Amino acid sequence: MTTCRRRFLDALACRATDRAPAWFMRQAGRYLPEYRALRSGQRFMDTLADPERAARITLQPITRFGMDAAVVFSDILVPLAAMGMSVDFVDGAGPVVTPPVRTRADVDRLADFDPLVATATLAQCLRLVRAELGDERALVGFCGAPFTVASYAIEGKSTRDFAETKRLLFSEPATFDALQSRIVENSLRYLAMQVAHGADALQVFDSWGGALDAHTYRRAVLPHLVRLVRGAKDTGVPVIVYVNGGGHLLELLLETGADAHSIDWRVDPRAARRIVGAHVALQGNLDPIVLLADRATVEQQTRRVLTEFAGHAGHVFNVGSGLIPRTPVENVAAALDVVRATTR
Ligand code: CP3
Repeated sequence: MTTCRRRFLDALACRATDRAPAWFMRQAGRYLPEYRALRSGQRFMDTLADPERAARITLQPITRFGMDAAVVFSDILVPLAAMGMSVDFVDGAGPVVTPPVRTRADVDRLADFDPLVATATLAQCLRLVRAELGDERALVGFCGAPFTVASYAIEGKSTRDFAETKRLLFSEPATFDALQSRIVENSLRYLAMQVAHGADALQVFDSWGGALDAHTYRRAVLPHLVRLVRGAKDTGVPVIVYVNGGGHLLELLLETGADAHSIDWRVDPRAARRIVGAHVALQGNLDPIVLLADRATVEQQTRRVLTEFAGHAGHVFNVGSGLIPRTPVENVAAALDVVRATTR
């Protein structure tokens, strides 16, 4: 009998599995009533500082649905807080990071952190979750990619046009490089800590990397991502790279040497398979908004996604971007039921 953990790790290694393993980005979040209950009245960063509570939240979707992998409850902006920035999540407005990094002096003021000190509660949360999951299910650790984390440090909030980020990138490339280097150095220790405390795989979220053209991505961003992925792989666990809106970057991203690429719904799975070849796994790529439709549509679209990835062992079923708060819980269950029933 295979375990969910084995199935997930086998698929990431492109080894044959009985069916595609499955998890969902943002599977622990506001669409779950039990999440809203545990979070009620508590600030997001305070919840992260409470390892028992963060561990319970991590396990909530596993208990309810039984995904093959859990993703630790944390955020890609946690390292910026550990580097001395003020990070807050304001209801309805998203993250607020202050004061924004705009100059070389701002970069030099950032602190390097010891993950066992500054993010000790994440280490504790991972240990608690690992003990609950045992060998049965996989545990995914993560960090943000240097470009995406830099964009939050520079903009101070979510943005549509990345004006300040791109201005710095184009007009002060050395400052932009220095910021990404600091993020990579700190993220590498942070990821190693996550593996040491129980993570079976690591995902790097480049949620905003798709905002760049391929030429600029290669020149200004890719070398930093390559360093991060290579260093992450040195921990011995598989690494998944996720660039939202990054279909035009997939070929470049192969240079990272990542074990798997997570693709969004805009990317055709068959075209992605042709680009990555036979020895790299793919993760994705259901449009999370499909989960707002009726059950028959959810089932049909899940089947279509599985069919488009069929014929190659290296597929991990997931959504193409995080679940949104309006997602009906029964549709997550419906999609998972289809994945479980589809042997390959
Ligand atoms: O279940 C999981 O996926 C694990 C936990 C997780 C969170 N954030 C929890 C969270 C993960 C992997 C992330 C990554 C993250 N954080 C990304 C990359 C993924 C993506 O969606 O592209 C990004 C861009 C962030 C930054 C961030 N954090 C934003 C933009 C927001 C606000 C958005 C919102 O919905 O309000 C957050 C806050 C956040 N991180 C929430 C959760 C569950 C919502 C806050 C809350 O519940 O109060």
